Amino acid sequence: MPTPSNPLKAVRGTRDLLPPDTALWNRVESIARSVFSRYGFGEIRTPIFEDTSLFARGVGEETDIVSKEMYTWEDRERFNEKSLIDAWLEGVGNTVIQIDREVSIADKRFDLLVKYTSGVIEIVEFKHKKDVSLSAAVNQLKRFITDYAIASGTMAEIAGRLVFPSRKATSHKELISLSPRIEIEEIPGDFFYSSQSLTLRPENTAGVVRAYIEHKLGERGDLQKLFYIGPQFRRERPMRGRYRQFWQIGAEVLGPVTSGSESPLRDAEVLEMLATLLDELGVKNWQLALNSVGSAEDRKRYLTILRDALAPIQHQLCPDNQRRAETNPLRVLDSKDPNDQALIDTLPRIADFLDDSSRAHFDAVLSALAACSVPYVINPRLVRGLDYYTRTTFEFTVPSSGDPASGLGTQNALLGGGRYDGLSEMLGGPRAPGIGFAIGEDRLILTLQAQAGAPGGVPGERSLLAGVARLDSETWETKLDAYIAPLGPERNAAALALARELRRVGLSVEVGDGSFRLKKSFEAADRVARYIVILGEDEARSGILTVKTFASGEQTKIAQADLAQALRT
Ligand code: HAM
Repeated sequence: MPTPSNPLKAVRGTRDLLPPDTALWNRVESIARSVFSRYGFGEIRTPIFEDTSLFARGVGEETDIVSKEMYTWEDRERFNEKSLIDAWLEGVGNTVIQIDREVSIADKRFDLLVKYTSGVIEIVEFKHKKDVSLSAAVNQLKRFITDYAIASGTMAEIAGRLVFPSRKATSHKELISLSPRIEIEEIPGDFFYSSQSLTLRPENTAGVVRAYIEHKLGERGDLQKLFYIGPQFRRERPMRGRYRQFWQIGAEVLGPVTSGSESPLRDAEVLEMLATLLDELGVKNWQLALNSVGSAEDRKRYLTILRDALAPIQHQLCPDNQRRAETNPLRVLDSKDPNDQALIDTLPRIADFLDDSSRAHFDAVLSALAACSVPYVINPRLVRGLDYYTRTTFEFTVPSSGDPASGLGTQNALLGGGRYDGLSEMLGGPRAPGIGFAIGEDRLILTLQAQAGAPGGVPGERSLLAGVARLDSETWETKLDAYIAPLGPERNAAALALARELRRVGLSVEVGDGSFRLKKSFEAADRVARYIVILGEDEARSGILTVKTFASGEQTKIAQADLAQALRT
């Protein structure tokens, strides 16, 4: 039981984002949106939960994400009308059941009064508003019985078979004229779907590709460039920079092969856009690490070789890596376990097993990056933790723990992504090669805040600050234009009216309270606004207001008519 000394708290691994931090979040998102729009991306919003099999098939059963970290639940059982009707039509069973009820069903097209007496449904009244076919009438009855069955919770007993006296009856008129006594037969069986397994999305790429397939976006023929901003959920051990609900800013570029979706130019463009975005956000010291995991065939060949190489050393690895060596050997490569590093370094590298076209693809990505002056390092062990990747994989990091400019502790991957040329087919869709990334927004914000606080660091000294008018450098807080301090409760109404006037011309204004002492008003105003406007008896009478500028400490008298203009400067 929650008590005042033990109140309810946010669930472990989740957190509230509050002002003034949310101002920074919004600013970051608006810079991302502006960069995305310059590169021709449109926004996609997919549901926060999906069918579990989407992630099992897309991200991979053996990945940490799917095998350990998903929030999955069984949705409630649903009634399967189709299976009832199928069984009904097949006419299984033959037991007459007892129902005693009288009911009327109103339908848009007709009213039906049905009476249940021992074992029969009698159509008492059948008023048609328009011409109604026999099948519509039968369906209406079926629906009624079904609803009744669901409501009474005794499906198997009540689901019935409708037997009309004459199969030849083809219209409602005939139906009525044929002494509508209907026998009910019991249909044994399970008419409920096994419940559906649902999962809070641990990432957004699978959902985007599902939507691409579902809405046949590929048939438009051109490249689909989609971005998203939203929460994701993974049951990971929470720590700084790692949460159970976290936010991603991501984008995907995919389309039919004829749209150029497979081209290395797309990879380079996505990476160049990320470099631009991080620069515009003012992130310092980012590093791009790249690798190619080859085509699906390259990977298959490499996996056999990797398994063979792991077999003799497997027992020397940490228990986690021993398990990975069995279930998902690629993941051994990006293990962070310090004791296993020397052994892992001896393993064969995937780069040496790429076929000619994967090699050429990777080389083309690298030379396009060089042409755009985007710096990178190649990390042959970068395989990433999701199974859908093919060819290019990448991560952007900022200096890790120990470095005050990081703010992320050991969680130094700011963003990750790569190419996924076979994902659409894995989800039952058409061929649609693609590439994308997701930025951990929580980590991005921590980095910006840490870099702002680090020695020599000016918060977002580049465009983040430049673009935000009056962004307070310490708190990232946007200060309001003015704080109106009414002197005495009798000035409250006039203060509100003045605030309304200023807000309507676009100024941001806070109104104090006339019961505050002047000192308190000044303190409150200094915290939130650039100017304080005093509204006392004299001011109300003369229409000349006293205005103090906090930055300079200067106090002046300004006519109410000129106030808005003065506050804008
Ligand atoms: P990911 O590497 O699993 O890739 O996640 C991308 C980023 O999300 C990470 O680099 C990290 O910044 C952030 N992140 C992941 N887990 C957490 C967490 N528990 N707490 C805070 N931040 C976290 C994907 O999700 C792929 N869908 C990326 C992608 C898009 N690949 C192709 N297209």
